[in-house]
Amino acid sequence: MYDSIGKQDKEVSDALAGEEAREANGLELIPSENYVSLAVREAQGSILTNKYAEGYPGKRYYGGQEFTDAVETLAIERAKKLFNAGFANVQPHSGANANMAMYMALLEPGDTVLGMDLSHGGHLTHGHPVTYLAKIFNFVRYKMKDVETGEIDYEEMRRVALEHKPKIILAGFSAYSRELDYEKFVAIAREVGAYAVADIAHIAGLIAGGVHKNPFDAGFDIMTSTTHKTLRGPRGGLILVRESEELAKKIDKAVFPGLQGGPLMQVIAAKAVAFGEALQPSFKTYAAQILKNAKAMEEVFRARGIRMLAGGTSNHLILADVFGSLGVSGKEAESILDSVGITLNKNVIADDSRKPMDPSGIRFGTPAITTRGFKEAECARVAELMLNALEGRGDAEKLGAIRAEITALAQKFPIPESFTP
Ligand SMILES: Cc1ncc(COP(=O)(O)O)c(C=O)c1O
Repeated sequence: MYDSIGKQDKEVSDALAGEEAREANGLELIPSENYVSLAVREAQGSILTNKYAEGYPGKRYYGGQEFTDAVETLAIERAKKLFNAGFANVQPHSGANANMAMYMALLEPGDTVLGMDLSHGGHLTHGHPVTYLAKIFNFVRYKMKDVETGEIDYEEMRRVALEHKPKIILAGFSAYSRELDYEKFVAIAREVGAYAVADIAHIAGLIAGGVHKNPFDAGFDIMTSTTHKTLRGPRGGLILVRESEELAKKIDKAVFPGLQGGPLMQVIAAKAVAFGEALQPSFKTYAAQILKNAKAMEEVFRARGIRMLAGGTSNHLILADVFGSLGVSGKEAESILDSVGITLNKNVIADDSRKPMDPSGIRFGTPAITTRGFKEAECARVAELMLNALEGRGDAEKLGAIRAEITALAQKFPIPESFTP
């Protein structure tokens, strides 16, 4: 695949070859990552990178749009079908851009958003103080009522909503392992006159695959997403509107010209290809296996006495309190597991007593290893090996043996090139 780069630019091609080997020989447990098909990669590396296409299909600012219009229309129509949406905007360059455009479409500076507390699973773009968003809008928070079950405190959410009158109630997370009660969000949003918005970046593939509820069925107004996590597409963003044409027009204006310039048409082509894959019946099987695999890992962690936030998982990810359970910090755990070929990330846990750069937890998940063909037995074994490595962290011989077993497992399940028959 890298023939031309190899001939022309050895430094870049060496880095690409290194990454290729790293992905082939190790296991990817970062829950926001996945392995895309060669078809998605070809589209992303395609000729469309040459083309400026500011505007939308049929309404562009430049000529020569016959094929960009065709590709973007395909991506839009497939996204609508996948998520049962009335309207789709496939131009956001990333999940962060999708959220920024959504805020821009719905809010004036100074308006209030009610979102999930960041240490309880919310994302940076839900108003972390370090973001520019937090300078423009006012973010207030809801939390889990019980961090051992993951139940959200809907009463407190309602109280905060009545007090602060947010314009948006935002459901969605990047480090929370249960399903949300979307009906409750919508009821509170209707009561206070807020938009109900779901950021489904992490679970888009679970919704598209029919194994998690679709927030639109509960009456959510808008969903924002990434396309590269469980949805298994190219790195990018997506905004969906359930039914209001007026809202859809506001979203389109906010994405372009409000926030972005020319769309990345090669990425939009890759989104169209990935959405086509997610519409295949086999994607439902994939999504269901992601959940079964996460459960298999949860069972091992529980059996070995490791504290999991929210008491376990109902989705694709697990947040484990390794500091509380094993006395190893999240940072140290990340590095030990990296040394045996398992990639995951350190993560703050709810009300963490440690600092964000060296927190108490690790976060890991099954979307990528499920793409690789892992079933429950392999996932349970990986969970065993993770805990063996953390418990045996001082023992170089033990870690060497674990590394060898991980490499053998990775090589037994090569990264697939295609997911369609
Ligand atoms: C819930 C949520 N929203 C938004 C984003 C931002 O996506 P991106 O990294 O593509 O900007 C993420 C990424 O981790 C996320 O988890």
